[in-house]
Amino acid sequence: MSSTTLGVLSALPEELAHLADESGGRTEIAGIAFRQGVIAGRPAVFVECGVGKVNAGIATAYLLERFGCAGLMFCGVAGGLDPALGVGDVVVGTSNLQHDYGAEQEDGFLAFQPGVAPLPGVERRPGYRLAPPLVERLRAAAGGLALEPLPESVGVGARRPTLHFGGIVTGDSFINRDATRERLHREFGAQAVEMEGGAVAQVAHRLGDVPFVNVRCLSDLAGATSHLDFRAFLPIAARTASLVAHRLAPHI
Ligand code: ADE
Repeated sequence: MSSTTLGVLSALPEELAHLADESGGRTEIAGIAFRQGVIAGRPAVFVECGVGKVNAGIATAYLLERFGCAGLMFCGVAGGLDPALGVGDVVVGTSNLQHDYGAEQEDGFLAFQPGVAPLPGVERRPGYRLAPPLVERLRAAAGGLALEPLPESVGVGARRPTLHFGGIVTGDSFINRDATRERLHREFGAQAVEMEGGAVAQVAHRLGDVPFVNVRCLSDLAGATSHLDFRAFLPIAARTASLVAHRLAPHI
């Protein structure tokens, strides 16, 4: 269990609702509120960063530079890409990749690692991968964690949500289209899509290779009805993600 400070980010108030604690005070910088408190016995700074990669990158830089966070966690919701997963399932990212940074070529879009010139001949291995020992620690910490069944009112049956470790992709678009969902799954083999994690990973890597764990519960399946599902399932998905986040926080 680490006693260093963990930076905890969410994009939306619903996502931070079950985590935030400001017993240690509140500081506002650039219109962003940073709340100092504790998560699972570990000192933490909580921030609602807003939606999208730039917002996430700004908040991450402050968490590292002003608050000296030694680890980072994002807790929130995502769209599911893997057809084997359903609403309520949780994905812990073993890699975070920006699916919209790259080159638009005659034969399609090619993703590159953020910051490199996206040109032919430049080596491509996009994505920020977690160190294997960290993944092992997280798997051990998550062992035996039973997620609560979703209420019947959610309308996905009495299925108990499951926890997965896998790839998460990030871009500055809400995915509300079956063809895009299929392409992102096919091209990147990712399990979930969201709008911040890849930016947190980029800044964490750039500012000292700080460990970052992305915890996402699926609020929708990124297809034609994802705008409706997102609204309906955001509160319950945010709650499920926060249960997993509490379990993993001491181990990052
Ligand atoms: N976050 C939650 N659902 C999402 C979706 N369908 N696309 C992008 N980000 C999301």
